[in-house]
Amino acid sequence: MVQDALIQIENVTRAYVMGARTLYALRDVSLTIRAGEFVAIVGPSGSGKSTLLNLIGGIDKPNNGRVCIAGIEISALNENALARWRGEHIGIVFQFFQLLPTLTALENVMLPMELRNVFPNNRRARAMDALARVGLQDHAHQLPSELSGGEQQRVAIARALINDPPILLADEPTGNLDTQTSEQVLQLFSELHRAGKTIVLVTHEQPLARAASRIVFMRDGRIVSEE
Ligand SMILES: Nc1ncnc2c1ncn2[C@@H]1O[C@H](COP(=O)(O)OP(=O)(O)OP(=O)(O)O)[C@@H](O)[C@H]1O
Ligand SMILES: [Mg+2]
Repeated sequence: MVQDALIQIENVTRAYVMGARTLYALRDVSLTIRAGEFVAIVGPSGSGKSTLLNLIGGIDKPNNGRVCIAGIEISALNENALARWRGEHIGIVFQFFQLLPTLTALENVMLPMELRNVFPNNRRARAMDALARVGLQDHAHQLPSELSGGEQQRVAIARALINDPPILLADEPTGNLDTQTSEQVLQLFSELHRAGKTIVLVTHEQPLARAASRIVFMRDGRIVSEE
């Protein structure tokens, strides 16, 4: 076992049966990520990056193999246990932000606390703090439609971190942003990495991966190399 192993993916296969043929999104993939690493997963479209990230986040399950995080085999948990586990351990951000359009920035950030029913007394203050940390304290009461793409992604990052999960997962988080805004978001990831978060970032743009301390290259459902 690798020392400090936080995320352990062991011989994982994820296949989709499409009529008469089977499509392998992941083929016998193994990967170990240590606590505090910032890992970028890079590869062409269809190579299995999102599938791998979703297995780490407990959004999807493998057909074969195991996904263990902090010693817990999450690939063996039932849906309820998995949802609870996810709320404590994982923050996720996506390419299209996925903020709720009728809620303000502040309300979006408060949502995961409400779902977990924690800290009922100081949720607002905690959410304001989280928005301040991503530089958006002055936009707390605006709707997503009143924010720029970069601002929306920063709200999504604040929301992902509000329950202080040790692991932050990001699937093409800058895919919908201009170059300058992408840089700001990546800088935020670097700061979070320095602050001790374990980060897994999926991107098909290799230049974006340079913020990471380790780059894993995928192709056709396999890990083909590492840097
Ligand atoms: N629900 C599904 N049903 C059938 N096939 C799927 C499903 N989800 C993913 N796949 C297939 O699995 C393969 C890997 O998909 P995945 O989304 O992981 O790729 P990706 O590397 O994230 O690509 P992109 O860069 O385009 O986001 C693709 O061939 C895809 O078509
Ligand atoms: Mg993808």
